[in-house]
Amino acid sequence: MSTKAALARYARQRDSHIEDLEKLVRIPSVSAPGFDAAPMQRSAAAVAALLGERGLENVELLTVEGAHPYVYGDWLHAPGKPTVLLYAHHDVQPPGRAEAWKTPPFELTPGKDGRLYGRGAADDKAGIVAHAATVEAWLGAAGKLPVNVKVIIEGEEEIGSAHLFDFVSRFKKKLAADVMVLADAGNWDTGVPALTTLLRGIMVVEVEVRGLAGPLHSGMWGGPIPDPTVGLVRMLSTLVDADGRIAVPGIYDKVRPLSASDRDELERLPTTPEVFRRQARLLPGVQLLGKWITPWELVWRQPALSINAFQAASRAQAANIICDSAWARVGVRLVPDQETKEVQRQVIDHLRKQVPWGLHVEFKAEHSAGWWMCDPEGPVFDKARRALELGYGKRPIMMGCGGSIPFVDSFARALGDAPALLVGVEDPYTNAHGENESLHLGDFDKAVASQIHLLGLLGE
Ligand code: BES
Ligand code: MN
Repeated sequence: MSTKAALARYARQRDSHIEDLEKLVRIPSVSAPGFDAAPMQRSAAAVAALLGERGLENVELLTVEGAHPYVYGDWLHAPGKPTVLLYAHHDVQPPGRAEAWKTPPFELTPGKDGRLYGRGAADDKAGIVAHAATVEAWLGAAGKLPVNVKVIIEGEEEIGSAHLFDFVSRFKKKLAADVMVLADAGNWDTGVPALTTLLRGIMVVEVEVRGLAGPLHSGMWGGPIPDPTVGLVRMLSTLVDADGRIAVPGIYDKVRPLSASDRDELERLPTTPEVFRRQARLLPGVQLLGKWITPWELVWRQPALSINAFQAASRAQAANIICDSAWARVGVRLVPDQETKEVQRQVIDHLRKQVPWGLHVEFKAEHSAGWWMCDPEGPVFDKARRALELGYGKRPIMMGCGGSIPFVDSFARALGDAPALLVGVEDPYTNAHGENESLHLGDFDKAVASQIHLLGLLGE
C-alpha cells in the first residue's frame, strides 16, 4: 500500500529530481589527474546538500588522504529492519573532444529522442539522483522508510578508486549493511532491465619509449636514426595476433572456462550478433572479432586489450620530424580467474622483450581493479528480480558487464559477503565515457520505481 503512495509521490516530484540532475551535471567533476580538483569539492558539496534536502540525515563528507571526497548520509529509524547501503559515484570521465559534442557537455540538454544529454547524465549522476529520489518518495509519502538506509557517493570511481583500501579500513564499520544496491551498472536494452552478476577487472599500464634528447629533422637525420615512434608501434603490434586475440604469453592461462549452465545462459540471451554490431555503431564492413565466440561471451568472460591513447607529436603539431619519444596507454580487461598483478607482469615483461634498437623504455602501472562475480541466488536476489519486473514491466536479464566498479568487490568482502545488487540506467546507447553521453528519461523513471519497490520488498 505505501509502495503505491511512494510511487505516486515520485511521479509528482519527478521534475524536481531532474532539476537536481541538471545541477549536478553543471559541475564538471572530472576526477582525472590534470583536471582542476576544485569542481570535485563543489560536486561533493552539492551532493551533500541534495542528500540533506531529500531527507537523509547525518550528511557529511568522508575523506581519506589523497582521495576526492566521498559523501555519506543515512536514515536509520527502522529498528529490526535490514540496512541497505546505496552506492553511486559523483566523479565523471573527461568530456573528450569538444567538437564531437552536439550539445554542451556540462549542460543537461533534452534531445528529441526522450534522452537527456550531458557528461555524467547517466554515469553516474543519474545513480545519485535515483537514490535521493527513492528516499524522498518514501519519506514524502509515508514519513518513513521501510528499511534503514545508508548512502555512499564516491569521488574517485572513474580513476580506479586508488584509495579504496584506506577508505574501507577506515569506514567499514560506519557503512555496515545487510545489502548493497549499486546504481552504476547497465540495462540489457532501453526499457529492458538487468541485474549485473559479473564485472570484469582492469589493469592499465603506460609505456614510453625514448631515443633522442630532442626531435630531429626527418630529412637531415632520417635513415640511421631509429625512430622511437616506429619502435613503439612495433612493440604494440605484438600485443595481438592477426585475429585480434591477445598475444601476450600466458595471459589466457587462468581464464575460467564456462560451466554448462553459464553456456546455457549465454545461449538463451534474447539477441543476435547483428544487434550487438548495431548497438556498438560499427561502421559497414568492419568485422566483429572472435568468429566462434559470441560477443557477450567475449565481453563478459574473456580478457580484452585496448590502446586507449597514443602520443608522439600531436596531430596539431605534426611536422617532418623524428620524434624524440612516443607514449601509449594500454588497458587490459580481466575476467575470472585472472590475477591483476600477474597480468601486469606478463604485459610488461612481454613488451620489454620487444624493444628494438636499444631504445629506452619506461613503464608506469596505472590503476587496476579485480573482477567480481556473484551467484544471484537467495531471497535478496529474488526480491531484486521482482522489484525490477515491477518497475520496468519486464523480466530482468541476468547479465555480465565488461566494465569495472572497484568498490563492489572490496565492500562486499568488508561487509562479510553481503549481497550486492548491481542495477543502473546505462543502456547500450548511453555512450558512457564517449561524447554525447545520455540518459533515457523513461528508463530513469523505471529505475526509480524499481528501487522504490525494492526497498518495500526488502522491508517485508
Ligand atoms: N559505470 C561504469 C561501469 C559500467 C560500464 C557499467 C559499462 C555498465 C556498463 C563505471 O563508472 C566505470 O566506467 N568504471 C571504470 C572503472 C575503472 C576506472 C577501474 C571502467 O570500467 O573503466
Ligand atoms: Mn559509473
